[in-house]
Amino acid sequence: MAVGVEYVEKVYNRYSKFYDLIFGKVFHSGREMAPYLLDLRPGMQLLEVGVGTGLSLPILPRNIRITGIDLSQKMLDQAQQRLKDEGLEDIELFKMDATHLELPDNSYDRVLAAYFISTVPEPVKVISEMKRVCRPGGYLVFLNHFRNENPVIGFFEKILSPLFYRVGFRTDLDVYRLMEECGLEIETLERIDFLGHWKAVRCINPLKEE
Ligand SMILES: C[S@@+](CC[C@H](N)C(=O)[O-])C[C@H]1O[C@@H](n2cnc3c(N)ncnc32)[C@H](O)[C@@H]1O
Repeated sequence: MAVGVEYVEKVYNRYSKFYDLIFGKVFHSGREMAPYLLDLRPGMQLLEVGVGTGLSLPILPRNIRITGIDLSQKMLDQAQQRLKDEGLEDIELFKMDATHLELPDNSYDRVLAAYFISTVPEPVKVISEMKRVCRPGGYLVFLNHFRNENPVIGFFEKILSPLFYRVGFRTDLDVYRLMEECGLEIETLERIDFLGHWKAVRCINPLKEE
């Protein structure tokens, strides 16, 4: 795919001011599924990759430790302002490329990717980083648009994908193929919207090979 990380960063820097207006409410029912899919217990460590403007953060429980990372400084600036407004300043935010997470192995109990994995040029590499930083037996949760099982819709999603990617996300990611390629078994898969264009997926991080 011709689009690189620098291009994605530029696109989301541009979106930052009006992101909440366009993608706030429309994706919110999915974000609201995150706490139960993550099954968070007190004291757990959660990483949100592609945290954006931090729309998921106020929904998450307060008795865990949360770190958010994003490529776009302008999206993070909006997130930081949200943390200030909502009194959530114990949440840590870092500018980081999820393709090369500057975080130690096995350091999180849960990793959340909300409306994120279809925005990255190298989803397999990013998921391998998510697996690396998550402890074995921890949960990886994805909220995302995935290619539709209906062959006609899926066909159009595939051919239109390069076009959509110019505006920030691809439409051709096949959830089953992607997870298989990443060595992940899908534990639960739920529709977010009635037609199933958007899905909530939970995988358990497998034991790591020595
Ligand atoms: C569609 S937004 C989703 C934001 C947020 N999770 C939400 O629910 O609204 C995708 C975010 O992923 C970030 N992103 C894209 N590629 C990235 C990468 N390689 N590393 C870190 N963040 C990335 C973008 O900057 C953007 O903020």
